[in-house]
Amino acid sequence: MDQQRRIVCVGMCVLDVIHVVDHYPVEDTDKRCVTGYWQRGGNASNNCSVLQQLGGAHVEFLGMLSASPAFGFLCEDCHKYGIAIENCPKTEKDPPFSSVILNNETGSRTIIHSNPEFPLLEYKHLAQLKLSNYGWVHLEGRNPESVLQFIKDIRNYNKEMKNTINQIRISVELEKIKDEILILGESADIVFLGKDLATYLGWNQPEEAVMGLYDKFKPQAELNNSKPAIICPWGAEGAGCVDAQGNYCFVPSKKVPLIVDSLGAGDTFCAGVIHALQVLNKSLPEAVQIGHSVAGYKLGHRGYDNIKNFWQDQRENSK
Ligand code: FRU
Repeated sequence: MDQQRRIVCVGMCVLDVIHVVDHYPVEDTDKRCVTGYWQRGGNASNNCSVLQQLGGAHVEFLGMLSASPAFGFLCEDCHKYGIAIENCPKTEKDPPFSSVILNNETGSRTIIHSNPEFPLLEYKHLAQLKLSNYGWVHLEGRNPESVLQFIKDIRNYNKEMKNTINQIRISVELEKIKDEILILGESADIVFLGKDLATYLGWNQPEEAVMGLYDKFKPQAELNNSKPAIICPWGAEGAGCVDAQGNYCFVPSKKVPLIVDSLGAGDTFCAGVIHALQVLNKSLPEAVQIGHSVAGYKLGHRGYDNIKNFWQDQRENSK
């Protein structure tokens, strides 16, 4: 596969401290876990780990990194994966971190996240990217003012690129329960809507969620007066999606026989969809199907390292 222009994921890089248990702990008890380890996490950083291993495009992470020597492994790990981080600003502050409980009994992951005043990326950090290097920009929906300004820059750049092949596609993840991030979705090409945000907005079915958000959006001049496509993963069932022309479909996912590690499965799904759209040129429902397969594969393996074997295992299983 030829390497394409970069895919950049903009958001957080986090330290995940993980405890694997056979039963969820009872409050105020002192227990040993089955195994424990720490790894690089954060939605955008996880997206990068998956995208890089699926291949076909150079991958970059853009987010605030900690310069604290104690957490240098976060940067080293990006290098190990071949994820570019040269445009990331650094702060002296320690990185955000999460305590994660993975419960073998149910397959659940419980995350307690701590982000004490860690500085956010600003427009000036986004504006330094040389846009001609990029084919796809994926953004965690946070810091709307800066991100909107950056999206405007990309739209202007796209206008200058008459040939659509040279344009940059924009995806936005709307996951955090904050009304003010919805505006970011309207200006993207593809929106990943989180189930929790959808239910917070009063939508209790994937079709209601996806069409509810689609109806809220105004047609975009930059998208030939169509609207962004929207994908809403709905737990183990599958995902609802609507394309830019308003065609809805539900793409079911296959049941995973044994869940080994569900941390970051949503980030893996998202990366799988982006890979399928950008690198493999698939249609939206096909891309969602591929997203499910990569996420299902991840659920059966610990961490993200094994995703490098995803395509080979797919080929062998289809023989
Ligand atoms: C998984 C994840 C973890 C991180 C947390 C932050 O989706 O990105 O890696 O600790 O979410 O919310």
